[in-house]
Amino acid sequence: MTTRTLSPAAYDKLTTTVARETGERRTSALWSHAAALVRHAHEHGLAPAGHRPSGPDGLLKSLEELAGCHPALAPLADPAVLPLREQPLGSAAWTAIEEFWDRHPALEGAHRVDGYALGDTYQLLSDEARKGRALCQTPPWVARLLLRLSLEPAIEEWGPADVRMIDPACGTGHIAVAAFHMVRVPPVRSRRPAPVGHGPRAVERALAAVSGVDLDAYAAALTAYRLLACSASVLGVRLDQIPASLPVNVAAADSLLDRTEPLLAGGAYHACVANPPYITPKDATVRDRVRAAYPQVAVGKYSLALPFTALMLEHLAAPGGFVAQLTANSFMKREFGRRYVTEFLPRFDARWIIDTSGAYIPGHGTPTCILVHRARPPVGDTVTVIRGNRGEPHVPDDPARGLVWRAIEEAVDSRLAWDRFRAGTDRARREEGHTDVAHWGFSM
Ligand SMILES: C[S@@+](CC[C@H](N)C(=O)[O-])C[C@H]1O[C@@H](n2cnc3c(N)ncnc32)[C@H](O)[C@@H]1O
Repeated sequence: MTTRTLSPAAYDKLTTTVARETGERRTSALWSHAAALVRHAHEHGLAPAGHRPSGPDGLLKSLEELAGCHPALAPLADPAVLPLREQPLGSAAWTAIEEFWDRHPALEGAHRVDGYALGDTYQLLSDEARKGRALCQTPPWVARLLLRLSLEPAIEEWGPADVRMIDPACGTGHIAVAAFHMVRVPPVRSRRPAPVGHGPRAVERALAAVSGVDLDAYAAALTAYRLLACSASVLGVRLDQIPASLPVNVAAADSLLDRTEPLLAGGAYHACVANPPYITPKDATVRDRVRAAYPQVAVGKYSLALPFTALMLEHLAAPGGFVAQLTANSFMKREFGRRYVTEFLPRFDARWIIDTSGAYIPGHGTPTCILVHRARPPVGDTVTVIRGNRGEPHVPDDPARGLVWRAIEEAVDSRLAWDRFRAGTDRARREEGHTDVAHWGFSM
């Protein structure tokens, strides 16, 4: 199957067309996307046996079947998450949806079940999720870099059998899915052997290691679906053959304010990885509640990214845990960031500051940076900073291969190679009985 990319305007047009029958755009986007999700399950042989039923009633029946496959998929039949029956579809809207997905099989080829395109299409269809909650997919190549700087060293330190990570703003799960694969097939460098192979125990272990929470209940359900789709594909089974006991740690909750959600328990994670929302809360009540809960960072017209940093560093991370985020760099230039920069961040062990403002990251119109800290007071005297010189000369055909992004990855690679070399020589000298370990200088 080939994947043809349609313009964002084509998705908008579909939402508008379907909304003529549903009455409003939110449900229109949900109907359209649920149809894509059911196609994904059927086209990849993941749905319970049988043909993909047609028509709106058939879609509702398929969603119920999927919901029955695993407890984590129950939200797909929950009217509070997918209020489809309240705003039924007529035949014209249904035909528009079917024709759209026929023309645009944006569900990846048969060999890809990760559902990246499925996540991206939700963002494209739902302006309510984009504008209301700042849903903006984290491209897989950005997710991979964030995980290399956080989950990968956490796996080395705590071991693949014990490591736990969370994305507290998981959206449709781009970071969570990449983390699942990183734990399932741990980096070869890990000095602690993985106690499990690549079969059912590896899948169970990887699922247990990864958690995701999002305010958007449908996005959270998509994350759960994608984690289970990957698991079923690795195990070579359908979703209804997956044991209900396999853990899927995904929840719909307000990560900043909910203190009852078990996945948001304090000190539970060796890696917290996020591309948090950068917007200022629009609702005055929410704005004040967040300000009251995070007075150390939520100052003035604060961006939500700041309380998310505090959530991860002060609450979710285990002592010494890694916290990596792709975030807006507005805190460096605006008044609301003053206390964050001068009082809050210096309390933690900064590892990496990477200027990504020159890189072309689709959907991220705001200039960004990557911050990586460890949840402990500063250690040592080195923070690795990758400074930007200039932006992309033009929009790259493949953003993952853009000049700026590749330069960033190369700088990260050489720094990590140096760190590993130095750790190896330190270890060798210690084993030879030297106690005074000399370090050579390194500049980038
Ligand atoms: C930039 S997107 C993250 C996208 C995600 N990494 C992905 O690739 O799908 C920010 C996410 O934060 C979520 N969000 C906003 N406020 C939140 C809150 N208070 N608690 C939990 N999630 C929140 C939004 O719903 C959105 O999915």
